[in-house]
Amino acid sequence: MEYTHEKYLEMIDEALKVYLGSVSDGQDLVLDAMKYSAEGGGKRIRPVLTLEFCRVCGGDVQRALPFACAVEMIHTYSLIHDDLPCMDNDDMRRGKPSCHKAFGEEYALLAGDGLLTLAFETLSKAEDVKVDTFKEALFTLSNLAGINGMVGGQVLDLKAEKSKPTLSALQTIDRLKTGALIKAACTLGCLASEKYDEQKIAAASVYAENIGLAFQIVDDILDVTSDTATLGKPVGSDDKNEKITYVKLMGIEKSQATVDELTKEAVNALGVFDGDTSFLENLAYKLASRKK
Ligand code: IPE
Ligand code: IPE
Ligand code: MG
Ligand code: MG
Ligand code: MG
Repeated sequence: MEYTHEKYLEMIDEALKVYLGSVSDGQDLVLDAMKYSAEGGGKRIRPVLTLEFCRVCGGDVQRALPFACAVEMIHTYSLIHDDLPCMDNDDMRRGKPSCHKAFGEEYALLAGDGLLTLAFETLSKAEDVKVDTFKEALFTLSNLAGINGMVGGQVLDLKAEKSKPTLSALQTIDRLKTGALIKAACTLGCLASEKYDEQKIAAASVYAENIGLAFQIVDDILDVTSDTATLGKPVGSDDKNEKITYVKLMGIEKSQATVDELTKEAVNALGVFDGDTSFLENLAYKLASRKK
């Protein structure tokens, strides 16, 4: 089977639909809100990374699907909560009104909770995975999504509002709030292959850490240079919330130069894989010059 980016997107969308299938009577509205935010509109970068890392490790990509969907569910929950009035207070996401604009704050909160927990239920549906691999995946995802990872980054991001963090403090925020989940995505792909070793996991981590930080810097650049129609979310959000970003600390040109350096570092880490890594190389470069 030849796997292309389009094929991966198809597989992810189809699997997400299945996992977001149904609930018993009474929870329909919150499930609608979960589906509204999860289905369509996102770039699916993280689950694509999970599937492709599984492939370059020599694994069966189909088996990585529950892992990939779990990561995308956590990502989607983080976006729903990130947009809430008590957080970034943004009214648009993935080209349509934010979850709380469409369903109300209480349902947006619960839809986020629902997606976060459904992620772990989905992970549990991975078939034919050794217990040790499964435990490692569970630890990796919960650790990198939680207070030592993405949630922790969101805390530091809030605390840094209206302050002027140093470049290294800003890097810590970005590595946690955005890099951590991207690292989970890449690591889970290796784990799902069941053909990983320490060296591969370490290389996947280096790739992920570099594209992860680059991804947030590009996000900050686009918040200034793009427009809402292209991004599908409001531009100028960082300014509105008085966030200090790479762009504010070093300007657009130097920020982009940093992105390009990080991207090269990421690509250099791919040498240890036996499989063809051109997909991951191209993806890193595409993300560095993405327009949305
Ligand atoms: C947005 O992530 C939030 C950040 C971590 C910068 P994406 O740009 O991947 O959002 P979607 O999934 O494509 O909507
Ligand atoms: C978000 O960073 C990181 C998350 C964990 C959601 P941003 O607040 O910059 O993401 P956007 O720009 O709203 O997508
Ligand atoms: Mg935010
Ligand atoms: Mg935001
Ligand atoms: Mg942003």
